[in-house]
Amino acid sequence: MCGIVGYIGQKNTKEILLSGLKELEYRGYDSAGIAVLQEGSFASYKAVGKLVNLEEKTKEFTTEGFALGIGHTRWATHGKPTELNAHPHLGEKSYVVHNGIIENYAELKKELQTNGVTFLSQTDTEVIVHQFEKNQKTSKNSFEAFAKTIKELHGAYAILLATKAEEETLFFAKHGSPLLIGINSVDEKYFASSDTPLIGHCTSVSYLEDGDYGYVTPKEIALFDKNGVKKEARFSALSQNKLLAQKEGYRFFMEKEIYEQSVVIADTLMGRVSESEIIFDELDALLFEGINEIKLCACGTSYHSAMSASYLFERYAKIKTSIEVASEFRYREPIMTKDTLFVAISQSGETADTLETLKMAKAAGLKTLVICNVDNSSMVRLADASILTRAGIEKGVASTKAFATQITVFWMLALYTAKLRDSLNKEQIASHIATLREVPSHVKVSDEMHERIKRLSKRYLHGHGFFFIGRDIFYPLALEGALKLKEISYLHAEGYPAGEMKHGPIALADPELFTIALLPKHLHYEKAKSNVEELSARDSTICAISQLPFEKADDFIEISPCEHYMLEFFEMMVALQLLSLEISIRLGNDVDMPRNLAKSVTVE
Ligand code: BG6
Repeated sequence: MCGIVGYIGQKNTKEILLSGLKELEYRGYDSAGIAVLQEGSFASYKAVGKLVNLEEKTKEFTTEGFALGIGHTRWATHGKPTELNAHPHLGEKSYVVHNGIIENYAELKKELQTNGVTFLSQTDTEVIVHQFEKNQKTSKNSFEAFAKTIKELHGAYAILLATKAEEETLFFAKHGSPLLIGINSVDEKYFASSDTPLIGHCTSVSYLEDGDYGYVTPKEIALFDKNGVKKEARFSALSQNKLLAQKEGYRFFMEKEIYEQSVVIADTLMGRVSESEIIFDELDALLFEGINEIKLCACGTSYHSAMSASYLFERYAKIKTSIEVASEFRYREPIMTKDTLFVAISQSGETADTLETLKMAKAAGLKTLVICNVDNSSMVRLADASILTRAGIEKGVASTKAFATQITVFWMLALYTAKLRDSLNKEQIASHIATLREVPSHVKVSDEMHERIKRLSKRYLHGHGFFFIGRDIFYPLALEGALKLKEISYLHAEGYPAGEMKHGPIALADPELFTIALLPKHLHYEKAKSNVEELSARDSTICAISQLPFEKADDFIEISPCEHYMLEFFEMMVALQLLSLEISIRLGNDVDMPRNLAKSVTVE
């Protein structure tokens, strides 16, 4: 996914664009650019790599008085991360920035090239500005040309376009990818892909809907829906108290977010657990009426929390639960029955693969629920109901605290469902709640454990691969541990059911194969232990994580005493997050903005 910003007004346009892009950089950071239209002429700057390169390039450039501008930070879909492929893209007298994918760009491009248009980049986006300028020639004004162009585009997009023909107008369109308009009491307008760039500048925000398009001037917002019908933009107050994430002395946002887990889990529990009952004010029990199955659908880390949830739903609520990788579910022509509750899980609420499956479930007439960390995101606005995780802004591309709060919500939701289905009695639910209340203290990072992991991580830098293994709900946790390591260390790692190793993967066992073994005392300990011993017998290097000492381990990460396997789950989650963090830091990687990744991907 990319990040786009726009501004029209009297303030320092360059600074507003750059600071806005800074807030969005975690969305994609392989190149960036801005274009500013002032007194009839454009100034445009682009740079490959992180935003600092663009800041360096624009050092001498200043803007004063009235101007308008657009900016972009890129996660490449079409065309390598080069300066030519960086946005904004130029036509003859216009510039465009875009987040999404234009699926019919090839045929539009071909037609434009046949008519003599020269393309500078390999991107799908460049076709928008040339198509617009082609339409300008046959339209009575630029807005008519813009509206015509939008109708000719297929795919997902959030677009901002500026043209010399209209020096005081910024054109915009939204379909699939997020786009917000921000205002305050002054005659100026702001655009952004999410609300963080608007905080501190705007008092109100409007979340554009799919199909919306229009233009703004300093004084006016002209908004049209997908049928071309003019409408009023609906604004809501923009809460300024959202913590603008600062590192606060930690080396990386990811490290800070690992240390924040005890607080955000407590926030996520707040007002939702009583002595013996789970309370979700945001849910109507009718949502579960006539429901015989739960289908969980997600991507990446959110998929691993969905997998973990399936164990909790079946074990405690006794309800059939299936899990889906969203990008697979999307085109598998799946059977969906109306007695299934469709649950989408997403930190951002914008991941296209998951968003599209939610649309499919709604179209098939299923009841839908989203577990999400961003209020007012596309999924929250689309689903019948939503439960917000309260992790706060998560800036590290590798998700940590969002995962922790997703698991917390799922444990609560399994108990909530168990009550509705009478699969657990009041005492059982009360005992679970007592354990749930202990989670914040069990995810507190102990200096001792962190120091221990810092020291042992030096032995895990150069092997030919990692196997993270666990049984039961510790299998999805093993998958998550492997993903964390892959995301930020670029080392090859796989998560595997411990019992499955002997059916093939154990062939890779030798001293250069690192096995990270999850050995919970309170869940299938002996079974898991014997699986690890099979690997140790074949000389794999074993790092065991447990509260029980394991003599066959080459390295041992001790977790604190716990009376419930779910508390062991959360303790081991922290150990896995710290292990991947410390290995990646030793390898000198940018942990917060790992190569080739983006915080959530708004294209399929
Ligand atoms: C990826 C992120 O792009 O999307 C992962 O790098 C994330 O960290 C995945 O887990 C899914 O994102 P979301 O926002 O839908 O949970």
